[in-house]
Amino acid sequence: MLIFRQMFDTTSSTYTYLLADNRTREAVLIDPVFEQVRRDGALIEELGLKLLYTLDTHVHADHVTGAWMMKQRLGSCIGVSAASGSAGADRLLNPGEKVAFGDHHVEVRATPGHTHGCVTYVLGDKSRAFTGDCLLIRGSGRTDFQQGSARTMFHSVREQIFTLPEECLLFPAHDYRGLTVTSVAEEKRFNPRLGGTICENDFVGYMTNLNLPHPKQIDIAVPANLKCGAPEEGHMPPKDPDWAQLTLSTAGTWEMQPTWLAEHRAAAHVIDVREPAEFTGELGHIKGAKLVPLGQLAARVGELPKDRPLVTVCRAGGRSAQATVILQKAGFERVANLTGGMLRWNQEKLPVEGRNT
Ligand SMILES: [Fe+2]
Repeated sequence: MLIFRQMFDTTSSTYTYLLADNRTREAVLIDPVFEQVRRDGALIEELGLKLLYTLDTHVHADHVTGAWMMKQRLGSCIGVSAASGSAGADRLLNPGEKVAFGDHHVEVRATPGHTHGCVTYVLGDKSRAFTGDCLLIRGSGRTDFQQGSARTMFHSVREQIFTLPEECLLFPAHDYRGLTVTSVAEEKRFNPRLGGTICENDFVGYMTNLNLPHPKQIDIAVPANLKCGAPEEGHMPPKDPDWAQLTLSTAGTWEMQPTWLAEHRAAAHVIDVREPAEFTGELGHIKGAKLVPLGQLAARVGELPKDRPLVTVCRAGGRSAQATVILQKAGFERVANLTGGMLRWNQEKLPVEGRNT
């Protein structure tokens, strides 16, 4: 079975796609975005997947790829098309090549026109294809920079994408109106630029009169993407917290395991955000914990110590996750949530006090 997730970057309106094999847990990630690598990495780890490859559909002009960054974090290989001219990839892909993950694979189809190195990745059973900035939903990528050519794009779409099965679902690299997926049949019929009875000269006429503004990010994104997203010296991304062993959840919270806290109790102050009756109830509390119920936390941040990081705890780890959001908004930078709360703490038979039994 295929595991499939579609993620969105709101700044650049880019879609990133995670495909994985349910049995072997091997995965590929299409068009990752540099600023979203933490998010995507968290999802990959939560789902228990092994990322084999990041695959870019082309050298993007509107965002920096997360390929290099993901390689640093998860050890994935970088795959890009040989025609892209990118340096620093582990695998340069040519048309017809397959990238396997478990029992599945994607096949590379050359679909130049937006750039000369653009490719479409087609899932082995042809049920899904990832068209990058070639075919968009009821639109197409622009053809007015980066070796773009409307004539070339017309042939790419008609010969490489519209020849896929009618029911094949098409997933683009971008959408600016909130649409997420289309199909070959739909685009053949309704794409105003490339569908129906539109001919090559109609498309060229359409594309040469778009008068689009210069992309804001192009001068930064293209040079970085030609190196698969490796940053310049002095432009390294923010480091992960190093004051404790933490993992980032896909929900966006830095999580601490109970055993780590028990073994490094002096590393942080514990803020218990339950109600007073729970603090002295059947689950007890962690020695030295300061009780500040969640509903009072925002108003009482001034009472909290600043000399060490803060770890929040509640019954099951939900309210305390919200507490980390409140604390970060109040300016506390080193904050983590105790995973599983006092329930997990007790299950793991870690020391408690104040238990009212
Ligand atoms: Fe693009």
